[in-house]
Amino acid sequence: MTVTGDFDRIALLGLIVGQFRINRHGEHGPNHWARVRKHALTVGASTGADLLVVELFAFLHDSQRRNENEDPLHGPRAADYATSLNGVRFELTAEQLEKLCFAIRHHSDGGKHPDPTIQTCWDADRLDLGRVGIKPAARYLSAAGAKEIEAAYQWSLASPEQEDLRLWGLL
Ligand SMILES: [Fe+2]
Ligand SMILES: [Fe+2]
Repeated sequence: MTVTGDFDRIALLGLIVGQFRINRHGEHGPNHWARVRKHALTVGASTGADLLVVELFAFLHDSQRRNENEDPLHGPRAADYATSLNGVRFELTAEQLEKLCFAIRHHSDGGKHPDPTIQTCWDADRLDLGRVGIKPAARYLSAAGAKEIEAAYQWSLASPEQEDLRLWGLL
């Protein structure tokens, strides 16, 4: 399969938002995905992460939530969804897809991982905990992720509803 570093974001996001079951303006919606994407690309530039994988993680990891609270299977469901879109909306190698799916499946388990791409995904999600009033903790982040805590926390608190628009502006 051809490996490309790019994909049609409008088509992918349209598909994801179209099937999203919960509040589009809620804590796990596109405004969160946009901040996770920015954190993933920022941290990933330092960690050497696969930037295509971490961007796809941002868009997909919470896409299968069925509520805003207890939904322990939303990661595994989203990993299956990501697999179904490979070769349709983006093109990943088997190794890339494996990392993406592992990161998505286990993103809310609270662990750390030695692979820089997987850990960058988890850093990016955890760096947006300020939106629910939790300050990110360095012990759950890579060294590169920990450097972003203050800026990320202020960003989460300052504009929780506006990054959605910024996301679409990126397209
Ligand atoms: Fe999640
Ligand atoms: Fe998330």
